[in-house]
Amino acid sequence: GHGVVSEKPKPGEKKGFVEEMRFVAMRLHTKDQAPKEGGQKPAEVPFQKWQPTREGYLRFLAESKAVYDTLEQIVADADHPDYARFQNTGLERAAALAKDIAWFQSEFGLSPPELQEDGPGRTYARLLQQLAKDDPQAFICHFYNIYFAHTAGGRMIGTKVASMILDNKQLAFYQYEGDFRQYLEAVKGDLNAVADGWTREQKDHCLQETEKSFSYSGGLLRTITA
Ligand code: HEM
Repeated sequence: GHGVVSEKPKPGEKKGFVEEMRFVAMRLHTKDQAPKEGGQKPAEVPFQKWQPTREGYLRFLAESKAVYDTLEQIVADADHPDYARFQNTGLERAAALAKDIAWFQSEFGLSPPELQEDGPGRTYARLLQQLAKDDPQAFICHFYNIYFAHTAGGRMIGTKVASMILDNKQLAFYQYEGDFRQYLEAVKGDLNAVADGWTREQKDHCLQETEKSFSYSGGLLRTITA
């Protein structure tokens, strides 16, 4: 900035950094996804019109597990000291996904597909490993979007798909032991605390990663209807 001329506060800035991340994320939703909170772009196929298949959904669960396995390993290793705060948040999903994948086998006799190195799960997992090492601000952006999105849009998708192809079976992926809202609040506090140690430039760099988070998660979601 220039002397006393202060810059305009960023949307959400006064409420803490998580609110800034949320604001950027909500604007990237398509209109069908979040019409009330900034979603402007039309979707190619609105999610209400998705035609899921059991095979596709099982692939989505298996590809997603590659991502959660990696996220949960990264915070368990905590090579960067900030990551240790995010151990045992209650939001972990890898174990739940393992249960759901086994359930598809016993219920429908469907085996999970073999994951390809260039599939959406492993591709995202590699990006997360690289960012966790080289770019903690970008990594935290993905961490936030993945876990928080899953409790919002993720659960809407889960309910809708279950009604269409799983006879309303509630998968473990969408169930938390305890109140996930409390877990989100605690994680929000830790994310805000970590971001308190960042410069404005580092915060902006984190926010700029949001688009990439949507694009990689979009790759996972597309498997549902493939
Ligand atoms: C929040 C829908 C995909 C990130 C929300 C909310 C809705 C929604 C309705 C607001 C929930 C609330 O505050 O009550 C959807 C739908 C999606 C989708 C239908 C796909 C079909 C995504 C993707 C990402 C994402 C791909 C990022 C990778 C977020 C985040 C929030 C959110 C970070 C804020 C959650 C919070 O404040 O706790 N989504 N979304 N969403 N979404 Fe999505």
